[in-house]
Amino acid sequence: MSLPFNVASHLDTALRAAASALGLADRGFEPEVRVADPAHGDFQANGALAFAKREKQNPRAFAQQIVDRLGDLTADFDLSLAGPGFINFRLKPTALLAWLQTYDSEQHLQSGAATLYQGQRFVVDFSSPNTAKQMHVGHIRGMVIGEAICRLLAFCGAEVVRDNHIGDWGTGFGKLIWGYKNLRNDQALARDPLEELERLYKAADAASKENPATLDAARAELVKLQNGDPENTALWNQINTISAAAFTEIYRQLGIRFDHQLGESFYNDKLAQVYEELRATQIAEDSQGALVVFHPEHARFKTQPFIIRKSDGASNYASTDLATMLYRAEHFKADAIAILTDARQADHFEQLWLTTQKWFTQTKRRLPRFEHVSFGAILGEDGKAIKTRTGDPIRLKALLAEAEERAFALVTEKSPELPETERRDIANAVGIGAVRYADLAQNRSSDYVFSWEKILSFEGNTAPYLLYAITRIHSIFRKIGLTAYDSAAAQGATTPATDGELALARKLVSFASVLNLTTAQLRPHYLCTYLYELAGQFSTFYAADKVIVDDPAVRARRLLLCQRTLIVLEAGLHLLGLRTLERM
Ligand code: ARG
Repeated sequence: MSLPFNVASHLDTALRAAASALGLADRGFEPEVRVADPAHGDFQANGALAFAKREKQNPRAFAQQIVDRLGDLTADFDLSLAGPGFINFRLKPTALLAWLQTYDSEQHLQSGAATLYQGQRFVVDFSSPNTAKQMHVGHIRGMVIGEAICRLLAFCGAEVVRDNHIGDWGTGFGKLIWGYKNLRNDQALARDPLEELERLYKAADAASKENPATLDAARAELVKLQNGDPENTALWNQINTISAAAFTEIYRQLGIRFDHQLGESFYNDKLAQVYEELRATQIAEDSQGALVVFHPEHARFKTQPFIIRKSDGASNYASTDLATMLYRAEHFKADAIAILTDARQADHFEQLWLTTQKWFTQTKRRLPRFEHVSFGAILGEDGKAIKTRTGDPIRLKALLAEAEERAFALVTEKSPELPETERRDIANAVGIGAVRYADLAQNRSSDYVFSWEKILSFEGNTAPYLLYAITRIHSIFRKIGLTAYDSAAAQGATTPATDGELALARKLVSFASVLNLTTAQLRPHYLCTYLYELAGQFSTFYAADKVIVDDPAVRARRLLLCQRTLIVLEAGLHLLGLRTLERM
């Protein structure tokens, strides 16, 4: 019998069964299975210790009782007790081989992983830019982290609904429409429409600061729009179309897709219900004409209001987001909702979630899980928010173009013999991949310093390093006249035996645990760290154990390890949204 894909959860199940066999089914025993320090084993269960202490039993004796009931595992594992009551599991080489033989393609890895979130629907709200503004470098985080999270969840069996919650409503449109009507330059609009819209907004904003009459005129345009005036509605549509075209181009470049683009305006006709229900349940109250929610149990939000309708009756970000929560719960039947924005919106989402919990509980609605997937800022090398020399934010369009240009120079230096079209293609994968990977490799909660030199380096935890590791494995197979996916190469493989082989095999088997961790916390950097370590483990193996040897069994098992390292590296990078290459 071969091991299931997810060895840690297999152990978890076995440990729980052992506890019930001891008559402890409902005593809350948590096995706490983790990937272990390789010195002790492959996996360890720490839960016996805490449980025994709580139950006033001798931890080591209790752990031994559990181990005595794990007889079925001994075919695949060596079991041992350590310290005061830790249980260690070491996979036997036969079990390692069986696992490696089963998970022989990206597709089979996916079928193994797919039980994790089977039957769960996740709505992921990501990118979600505001209309009529160019995307700048800060926008990249939400896009690449969001795309990676969607791919990871889907790989692990979830049904993912990708929703781009465009900021297409709000007070900015009054100024923009006024600017469009009064300050427009048609030539500029034809040349670079989004650029011109951005200029118009800024100019109108400046004009209304100077002249109160302009401010009034802009407000009047907004009221007309909100009352459905046909001319302003048409302009609003046109502005959204222009923005959407520019955004789509960036999404195409980054390989990002959405199932829905339900912007803020989509919720206009769904706000009345929110106000009514929150007032009827007395969750919201009137305060100086506005409708607000306080959370008396919270240190700050007992006095800091969550304004859900402004005193002039207008809706705001809170109103549309409440309606969005309801729509996602009822229409999409979401089991979980994840919204990606930078960390500055933490208060908003905390208040939104506190309010939603009370609202859904009182109206007897099923409460989905909610996650504000927040992230830090991208800093320049001076440690301040990254800017161009003139102090403007760096346009994403320009950043991506520069990434490809720099990567092209690198590739040309390394492989001048390749035809230019191929060098361009490699530069695209390396350049865009480098920008993307640099973002994903950081814990998303932290700010990080953007440095071209670092992200394009072939050393360290970078895209070029990992992409190169992949091409190196491809070239091993090219040299012996096979493709890397050819199953004939590994025919007759025997169990891993050398230290290098064993360590690499173990690292490969722990892929499943990394997927668990990464999706549980929605933090792609865990997967990045794992891939980087896997590539390192591969180098160690490759330096110590010659692959192309005469002994057919040894050669086959080493080629098996090469193949499996390759598919895990490729699968991992594809989950992160990178395109991989066969040579570079
Ligand atoms: N448009 C917002 C911004 O640019 C992000 C929207 C995130 N999604 C949401 N449902 N609030 O900051």
